[in-house]
Amino acid sequence: MAQLPKHIGIIMDGNGRWAAQRALPRAEGHRQGVGALKRIVRECGRLGIKILTVYAFSSENWKRPRKEIEFLMGLLRFFAAKERNELHRENVRLTSIGDLSALPPIAIAELQKSFELTASNTGLTLQLALNYSGRNEICRAVQRMLSDFETGSLRREDVSEEKISSYLDTANQPEPDLIIRTSGEYRVSNFMIWQAAYAEYFFTNRLWPDFNERDLREALEAYAHRERRYGGLSSDDSLEVNSFSDSETNSSRLESAK
Ligand code: FPP
Repeated sequence: MAQLPKHIGIIMDGNGRWAAQRALPRAEGHRQGVGALKRIVRECGRLGIKILTVYAFSSENWKRPRKEIEFLMGLLRFFAAKERNELHRENVRLTSIGDLSALPPIAIAELQKSFELTASNTGLTLQLALNYSGRNEICRAVQRMLSDFETGSLRREDVSEEKISSYLDTANQPEPDLIIRTSGEYRVSNFMIWQAAYAEYFFTNRLWPDFNERDLREALEAYAHRERRYGGLSSDDSLEVNSFSDSETNSSRLESAK
């Protein structure tokens, strides 16, 4: 496929609605959501995507009922433990972004084991955003920058966009090229807000547990047809710029249009 993204982000939304539509408990929606994740991980690996970052638990998700949080944490622990060998066989490297310290210690321990087992894998990097929000990530980065400033290892004049990026959880990674959000919601919800400055977004009505390989391909097709200009001009516009004569500046055009 032409123009494949290196890094895809997914806001996996709609597990609760998927369950409600079937009169099932929300937990069943989350369980099916893990199934969808496994399908998409396999497909991304096959396609040669380098990084897939999925929003598995946001810093705001702590506001949910205690029972649901406990269920999600159990699911995470179960995912880390049960899928570890399969991910390893598929050459997937498991990592995370976000502040893991607030997660239950047992979930952290299972995750660490999976991170270590898969650390040298060279295929897809599956990056779980856990207790993550973009603003919180930026706050933590600023705190680390200030510590380095105090010790003298960071100087005021060193601060640049690249330097800030290097203090984020995603240091040294390519920025997400494509961000997919399911379930018909059109929000960014604090997901990779610094890194997504030039990302292309793809929104679909599909609820996350139903999201499949075909939906992913549809998103990739849409991405392949987008023209990324990063604030510059398209190649057609550049040709037109060359036709500007020295005497015909923008302001003179505006003047004559009055
Ligand atoms: C959004 O659906 C989904 C979440 C808050 C959690 C996402 C988690 C999974 C897909 C499974 C867990 C993943 C791992 C790796 C264990 P929602 O509950 O907000 O749905 P709704 O908006 O329809 O209520």
